[in-house]
Amino acid sequence: MNKCTIIYATETGTSQEVAEKLSRDLIRYQMKPQIHDIQNYDKMKLPMERLVVFVLSTTGHGDVPDTMKPFWNFLLIKSLPSNSLMNLKFAVLGMGDSSYTTYNFAAKKLFTRLVSLGAKPLLRRGDADDQHDLGYDYEVEKWTSELIQSLLTIYPLPPNLIVDDNNLVLPNPKFKLNYSNQQEKDFNNNNFITNNYEKTIVQCNKRITDSEWEQDIRHIELKLDKLNYKSGDVAYILPTNPISYVDEFINLLQLNRNQIIESIIPLDLDLNQKPNVIVPTSVGELVYRYFDIMGSPRRYFFQLLSHFVSDENEKERLLFFSSSEGQDDLRTYNQKEKRNYIDVLKDFPSANIPLEYLFDLIPPIKPRPFSISSSSSLYPKTISITAGIHTFKAPLRRIKRTGLCSEYFSSLQEGSIVGVFIKESGAQLPPSPQTPIIMVGPGTGCAMFRSFIQERSYVQQNQGSDKLGKALFYFGCRHSKKDYIYQSEFEQYEKDGVISKLCVAFSRDQEKKNYVYHLINQDSKEIWDIINNQKGYFYISGSSGRMPKDVKASLLSIIKENLGIVDGDDDKVNQYFEQLEIEKRFITE
Ligand code: 2AM
Repeated sequence: MNKCTIIYATETGTSQEVAEKLSRDLIRYQMKPQIHDIQNYDKMKLPMERLVVFVLSTTGHGDVPDTMKPFWNFLLIKSLPSNSLMNLKFAVLGMGDSSYTTYNFAAKKLFTRLVSLGAKPLLRRGDADDQHDLGYDYEVEKWTSELIQSLLTIYPLPPNLIVDDNNLVLPNPKFKLNYSNQQEKDFNNNNFITNNYEKTIVQCNKRITDSEWEQDIRHIELKLDKLNYKSGDVAYILPTNPISYVDEFINLLQLNRNQIIESIIPLDLDLNQKPNVIVPTSVGELVYRYFDIMGSPRRYFFQLLSHFVSDENEKERLLFFSSSEGQDDLRTYNQKEKRNYIDVLKDFPSANIPLEYLFDLIPPIKPRPFSISSSSSLYPKTISITAGIHTFKAPLRRIKRTGLCSEYFSSLQEGSIVGVFIKESGAQLPPSPQTPIIMVGPGTGCAMFRSFIQERSYVQQNQGSDKLGKALFYFGCRHSKKDYIYQSEFEQYEKDGVISKLCVAFSRDQEKKNYVYHLINQDSKEIWDIINNQKGYFYISGSSGRMPKDVKASLLSIIKENLGIVDGDDDKVNQYFEQLEIEKRFITE
């Protein structure tokens, strides 16, 4: 077997999931992959490696994930000779989101650095994009088959070996479960199922858009016991599944929800990864807190499920879905029609899945990041988040659905316990409150700026108004009377001088769309003075599709206009802008 090392650097588990899937694919092509979480990988071994595949995501402002920092700093050591990795062949797959300007930066940087140290790429860099219609899967699958083609030129398969699209042998499960004879009544299930999260308590969960209005935006306050935070930080929230779905799933698979799992033991020693579950736990708790049953199944799920159905027609359909010819049908069935695991299991009623295989079939629930919308100086032991409840129509029977986290937020009540961990986002206020700032945050994009503004209010109360530089705040929503969230707070802050100028664009109060960047264009002179003469900071935060790109384009045209640059000479504009980025004075979140 041909050895190959797979190293993943993950923030929320996506890269790990993709790396594990890749590892299974490579085994079918006679490779012997060894998979490592980058934080456990001995970086000194890298120069001795022959073949390494990296799967990594990008965080913060184009940074590598935290778990990768020691490895990355090692690669950056200036004294490393340019042939340090001359024996290494490598591949890089980046997991990203193209709505960010720093899309797949970490993968780009890694690829370039490896080449400069003499390593040879096996193929182009993979750039998986969560914004793609079909999500990450589209590029992951395309890139994986290119990788396999490239590996086959180095390690051809023996002539008599045909790799079937469907791996017909049932692989061993990743984990073995040991059960307890105890029943749940003796079991304290009030513990948290996952490590690394702190318990917080919901103090408030209120709707802040008009009750008649279609968009439900929540202001949620969580009381912290142990956690500390600062303005600009991000709270990762770990949702749980809605009880009705948990019940449905348990009934469909006829699981015993009271059964207690004493321990979970990895069977594949190479993998050496345990699920992030605190044992003992009950099956019911595991389904409630761990498996992402509302997620969308991947191709491998269909392949593996084919082993567990007794009905021949169902089996045939599953095998078709997991074959190359079945990919278009699978995409329609699975991703376009937005079926989740429960929908699919209903379509294959003969499925009888042994519990331990659930860990192979269904990935864990991933935490979701939210900008914290409160200031730690004003509220050291409470964080607030500002989140939209998103519903979507699953084209399948046109059912209105709510995403997992949205569903979770709508269910939270005062006193509910929420698992949270807090991380720096890389977006922070300037070191001195006297440095002027421009904040652009329409919709829930205002969350981080509410935290910044509260922080400035704290400075004003304690040190006086003359300690505050200018602050322009551009907010946008659809209607002045419906979704202008935190209106009275923002207006009061403007009156008090905590915000020097509050500019609000209502996009649908009039016929013609009015967006934040229209208001920014009108303030060209003032913005230029802040950016150029006062060395101020420009922040953009928000998730509405093209908004960050459009706002950046406005800033570029302001730079162009004020530098007196004529058309066609965009290099100077770009140079000026790059300098802003280098000085970390242009920040998108
Ligand atoms: P719309 O939904 O009416 O198009 C918060 O989401 C606000 O941002 C809404 O008023 C939304 O307007 C607006 N928005 C949508 N796309 C935008 C863009 N490209 N630039 C600026 N604002 C945008």
